Amino acid sequence: PAIHYLLQDGSTRTIDAPLGRSVMEVAILNNVRGIDAECGGCCSCATCHVYVDEDFIDRLPAPDEMEEELLDGVASERRRGSRLSCQIMVDAALDGLTVQVPASQS
Ligand code: FES
Repeated sequence: PAIHYLLQDGSTRTIDAPLGRSVMEVAILNNVRGIDAECGGCCSCATCHVYVDEDFIDRLPAPDEMEEELLDGVASERRRGSRLSCQIMVDAALDGLTVQVPASQS
């Protein structure tokens, strides 16, 4: 599935993501700038924050309690589409997903 990353400089990176990886892992493996992922994906750092495109917000499983808590502490403004990208698993239904990297992760 194609995942589009909208970067801080306004450019877009489109990556053909392997199934079963997280949106964060795909970013790190492809050197997408702006997703720090300090904890390596164990849902404890909140530096993998992204804004999920409006069309996809309701298609994702809702954040669990731990993600909810971390989203309250993200460095950039929390918006309706705010998610931790390490908690979004790539599956076929997410083809065309766009996530925007926030201005800052710390
Ligand atoms: Fe740390 Fe997502 S990588 S919370």
